[in-house]
Amino acid sequence: MKDINQIIKEEMAALDKVIRQDLDSRIPLINTVGEYIISAGGKRIRPLLTILYGKLLNNNTEVLYKMAAMVEYIHTATLLHDDVVDESGLRRGRATANAVFGNAASVLVGDFIYTRAFQMMVQSNALRVLQIMADSTNIISEGEVLQLLNIGRSDLSEKEYFQVIESKTAKLFEAGARVSSIVSNSTEKQENALANYAIYLGTAFQIVDDILDYNSDADTMGKNVGDDLLEGKVTLPLIYLLTNANEEIKQKIVNAIDNPKDANIAEVVATVKNSKALDYCKKMAESYVKKAEFELDIFENNEYKEILVHIANESLKRIN
Ligand code: IPE
Ligand code: IPE
Ligand code: MG
Ligand code: MG
Repeated sequence: MKDINQIIKEEMAALDKVIRQDLDSRIPLINTVGEYIISAGGKRIRPLLTILYGKLLNNNTEVLYKMAAMVEYIHTATLLHDDVVDESGLRRGRATANAVFGNAASVLVGDFIYTRAFQMMVQSNALRVLQIMADSTNIISEGEVLQLLNIGRSDLSEKEYFQVIESKTAKLFEAGARVSSIVSNSTEKQENALANYAIYLGTAFQIVDDILDYNSDADTMGKNVGDDLLEGKVTLPLIYLLTNANEEIKQKIVNAIDNPKDANIAEVVATVKNSKALDYCKKMAESYVKKAEFELDIFENNEYKEILVHIANESLKRIN
């Protein structure tokens, strides 16, 4: 068997070429902004997974890479829009596109990349790919709007939190799995197993991201710490404390959520770090990774399955 790190390295290199290929426009500003965010890289976990599902299903065709790049384009477009909405200043270790080029350029180039993704998915010649992507992007938008409505809500339940992250994050992971299965002519059972793996992993991935917003640092994460709270966004660590902490801590958090711009964010971040909240979240993420792994049972053991298990577990290691 080939070394799994070597396979990942090779697939990442192939992917990078395809991703850059499709980013051409006659309008220079589009190329400038597009290249700015795409050349910053990012982890590219969604497109890598999209390729690996196909490989697990014995697909060696070019269209697999096209679909992987397409998924990354949808992701990239949502990030361009997201950083405008969230007024974020740092992404992938660089100043955000909105900070450098302004909100208008970010939104419009985001639209370009988004619609380019739709041009790319047509190349699958599969109506179901279009159906999956149309439905998924629609649900991702719903998730983002739902999250907007939930801003400032210190009464947010875990159930409501999961509804948001399943829509805004897990849905695109799922779409990658379904699209890859479709272009690989999988069985329905295989597609559903990969889709479930992707949903569970996507959910764990967002929980991990929400933990990192409290316990990482800008250099490691490429994004600013404490941004969720600064936006008034209530994520799993805060939900845990709002239900389980003593009155004094609860009140401190409610005050910060009510008025994040005037809150001492660093102090609340320290409170979260000194509590059991992040352990609780980590356990939750671990349970989703286990569920993801379990879904792969129907596939025979080979290096691609091994990589999918590896990636699911690595996603947890980002938490320090
Ligand atoms: C950021 O996604 C948005 C979330 C769903 C947490 P990633 O963490 O995959 O971002 P990049 O692509 O690696 O920058
Ligand atoms: C990113 O969401 C966009 C989507 C998942 C659709 P967030 O706002 O939660 O992620 P970051 O922290 O900016 O990467
Ligand atoms: Mg954001
Ligand atoms: Mg956001």
